[in-house]
Amino acid sequence: MNNFIDIHNHTLPGLDDGARSVDQALSMLRIATGQGITEIIVTPHYRPDRYREKRKEYQKAFQALCLAASKALPGLKMYEGNEIYFFQDVIEELESGACRTLAGTDYVLIEFSTIQHYGYIKGAVELLTNEGYRPILAHVERYKSLNNNMERIAELVDLGALIQVNAHAVEDAGRLFKTSFVKQLLKGELVHFIATDAHDEDKRAPVLDGCEKRLKKWCRETYLRQITGGNQRLLLQNRYID
Ligand SMILES: [Fe+2]
Repeated sequence: MNNFIDIHNHTLPGLDDGARSVDQALSMLRIATGQGITEIIVTPHYRPDRYREKRKEYQKAFQALCLAASKALPGLKMYEGNEIYFFQDVIEELESGACRTLAGTDYVLIEFSTIQHYGYIKGAVELLTNEGYRPILAHVERYKSLNNNMERIAELVDLGALIQVNAHAVEDAGRLFKTSFVKQLLKGELVHFIATDAHDEDKRAPVLDGCEKRLKKWCRETYLRQITGGNQRLLLQNRYID
């Protein structure tokens, strides 16, 4: 893909179950740039019971990675973010700067337990939107309470949520299942963002090629451009996404 902006990945090393060193992060970034990724919002996990990195550690890791990347891969842009495992005090921690929105915008990448019930997810979306944030539901294909339920996804979108699916899930949807949820979501144009959710340079690498083939098959050209570029650019400008 051309000039792809990845809004969900675990490239920032040492803070979660993603990259473990700057060297590994650079290997991931080399793959990413080879796939046409030119801008990256790094989103290490943030959850109170695990991965609660201190602010200083994040900034140190981010600066070190930016420095290494500027030498190895000049031209690649990086921004700060988190993938936040939703918890009740999330607003306080966002305001204190303990955890981060995406690239300093009002957009927040949120995840839940895969067995979280629908009412809780809906309540989380309502809480965040009421406080002026724009929640993006990370890898929406994973949640049992949303699976194959287009009405629930549409309701969450109506409440102000944006929907992200993983590139690997798009690739697998075409290969493994004839009528997968991801394919339904794409055909129903309920997805706002494709992202890599890359964790390493191997099985969970920042690869987009297989996904791109499926998207070209299933999506209108204008819609494809929105979910692989247009929406990401609006996000970085903190503009409203339909
Ligand atoms: Fe993730």
